[in-house]
Amino acid sequence: MTTDRQQLVLKLHKDHAYLQALMAQITALCERGDLTSGCNGCAPQQRTTCNSDIENLIRTFIEATLHHNMLESACMQDIAPREHRHAHNQAHLMIAERLKSVRLDFRQTGNGVATIREITAIMGLLTEHINSYDQQLESYLLAA
Ligand SMILES: [Fe+2]
Ligand SMILES: [Fe+2]
Repeated sequence: MTTDRQQLVLKLHKDHAYLQALMAQITALCERGDLTSGCNGCAPQQRTTCNSDIENLIRTFIEATLHHNMLESACMQDIAPREHRHAHNQAHLMIAERLKSVRLDFRQTGNGVATIREITAIMGLLTEHINSYDQQLESYLLAA
C-alpha cells in the first residue's frame, strides 16, 4: 500500500518526466544549430510553422514548470527545514525568471534557434535542480 507521501513523490516524478518529454519535443523542432542566421536560413512558410510550434510548446513548458514548482513549494511547508524551503524556493524563482525572459526574448526577436538553445540550458538547470533540491525534498517527504 502506498501512503499519501509516497503518492506525492510519484506525482513529482511524473511531472519531472513530463517536463523532460516537453523539452525533448522543443529541441526536436529544429535541427539548425546556426545562431548567426537564426531562423532566417529557413523558408518563410517553415518559419511560420516553427514559430507557432515553439510559442505553444514554450507556453506549455513554462506553465507546467511553474505549476510543478508551486506544488513542490506547497508540500514543503510543514515537512522541510526552513533553510531548505528558503533555498529551494529561491531556486524555483530563479528558474521562473529565466523562463520569463526566454519567452520575452522569443517574442521580441522571433529567433527560434536561440530560444531552443536557451530552453536547453534551462532544462540543464532544471535537471541539476531535480538531482539536488528535489531529491532532498523527496527524502524529507519519505522520512516524515
Ligand atoms: Fe524543486
Ligand atoms: Fe521538481
